[in-house]
Amino acid sequence: MRIDVLTLFPEFIAQAAGVGVVGRAVERGLVAVKAWNPREYAAGNYRRVDERPFGGGPGMVMLPEPLEACLAAARADGAMGPLIYLSPQGARFTQARARALATTPGFLLLCGRYEGVDERFIEAHVDEELSIGDYVLSGGELAAAVVVDAVGRLLDGALNDAASAAQDSFEDGLLDCPHYTRSERLGTAGVPEVLLSGDHARIARWRRQQALGRTWRRRPDLLARLALSAEDRRLLEEFIARQASRADAP
Ligand code: ADE
Repeated sequence: MRIDVLTLFPEFIAQAAGVGVVGRAVERGLVAVKAWNPREYAAGNYRRVDERPFGGGPGMVMLPEPLEACLAAARADGAMGPLIYLSPQGARFTQARARALATTPGFLLLCGRYEGVDERFIEAHVDEELSIGDYVLSGGELAAAVVVDAVGRLLDGALNDAASAAQDSFEDGLLDCPHYTRSERLGTAGVPEVLLSGDHARIARWRRQQALGRTWRRRPDLLARLALSAEDRRLLEEFIARQASRADAP
């Protein structure tokens, strides 16, 4: 896969794509992340990339010409797939979108700065607009890093244990269950007994119930979107009943 990022801060993207799971995916040749700086394609001695907006008002807007030349250079170099503009006006980026993007040969990300990008560039060249949440960042780079990370870790061979991605939060629309590990200091203190039982069916059932219960408690909006199986409903009812009987429930 190939991800091309149009950004005034290419070093930011190089950093984000250079560490951890995504850094390893790059090393393994699963994904190439290439940054393109519109400033290098801007005309004149000052290499202007922004201008005051028509109609007045505060702030500057990114000019279309450097973006157009930068995009053309990336495409000529082989950048492929849709151009995705990261902005607070976009559709919410989700695990489902990450999963879909991870099956494609590539895409391009456009990072805005200042007050945004000239609308005519967006209309002519942008295929999709994505937001990573209802807050305003000072630029699209952090959002692009989020997309690169969420997609990169899903590529076949990126995670050392492929099964772990399937168990992530949101993969089945639920939050993840709690995890415990062998800690020298804590030992088995506070670890639910079932996890020490070696009974894999019981453990799987407990994990499912915790995932359902946590989602019910913390993100009822997610739960409302799911059609739970009869078994899931039973597990959740049991969880809720147990909560109600525990006055000190967290
Ligand atoms: N750029 C600025 N804020 C953003 C957000 N919330 N999501 C994506 N891109 C952004």
